[in-house]
Amino acid sequence: MVGSINVDLIQSVEGLPRPGETVLSFRSTRLPGGKGANQAVAAARMGAPTRMTGAVGTDEGGEWMRRLLQEHGVETDGIRSLEDYSTGLALIAVDCSGENQIIVNSGANEAVEPFHIGALAQDARALLAQLEIKADTVRALFTTPGAEDRIRILNAAPALPEAHGLFEHTDILIVNQHELAHYVALDVAPETAEEALVARKLISRPDQVVIVTLGALGAVAVWQDRHFHAPALSVNPVDTIGAGDCFCGALAALLDAGETIESALPLANAAAALCTQKEGAIPAMPSRSEAEAALTGGV
Ligand code: RIB
Repeated sequence: MVGSINVDLIQSVEGLPRPGETVLSFRSTRLPGGKGANQAVAAARMGAPTRMTGAVGTDEGGEWMRRLLQEHGVETDGIRSLEDYSTGLALIAVDCSGENQIIVNSGANEAVEPFHIGALAQDARALLAQLEIKADTVRALFTTPGAEDRIRILNAAPALPEAHGLFEHTDILIVNQHELAHYVALDVAPETAEEALVARKLISRPDQVVIVTLGALGAVAVWQDRHFHAPALSVNPVDTIGAGDCFCGALAALLDAGETIESALPLANAAAALCTQKEGAIPAMPSRSEAEAALTGGV
């Protein structure tokens, strides 16, 4: 895993502010986050041996994040503490329906360089990355010697133009419907599994798959010649922060353990649904047994 590490400052508000508007929050919370860290914890909670490459500052937030990752079973030797940078910071507003807006200051995440990737661990079957670090660093991970023999999973979030150059080196691309709209240049985001089949435009090899997450409608995996739709569990979200990350980390862990996409998607969906039932990202990541219980018994 290579990715971002952030401290999340969460403001709970009645309604999200419109441009130019000031709103009062009724609660402020400081929680661990960052798409990379969230996905690493989700994978570890799903039972995968998880190593993370990334960077934090030498500030209190960085020490806090490293300690929390370790407590969740993530190996942190590949996380560098950089004196000249502050730890990544995300300002997050969450409204009463669980919808959110996020602004990220990258801090040390922008200093995760291609040469930090190093050699791949012998036993790492799945490689997972997102786009809160430099695209060149993700390219270095996916093109490093031996990477083509692993499962290279890219969560292309946030949507960035430079992601297109990574798709040819990716085996499994994961996007939500808004990111999909960005990458295939649609004005309106696909809303249904049928509409999400437009993801085929991003496939250039028969062995590639695009997985589109559709919120309450679950996720659909799209290959060149077929697709597989796994519906979501029905939940009332407390907040949706990190739910997509939970899905990505859980899915990577299950594929790393040798499961197929068809067998892994329902459990990854169940994990993501559980993640919406608690505040924040990392504190909300469920264990494998919790996700399995939700899948069989409901949330
Ligand atoms: O995907 C959710 C994450 O996005 C938050 O934890 C925040 O840190 C931003 O990176």
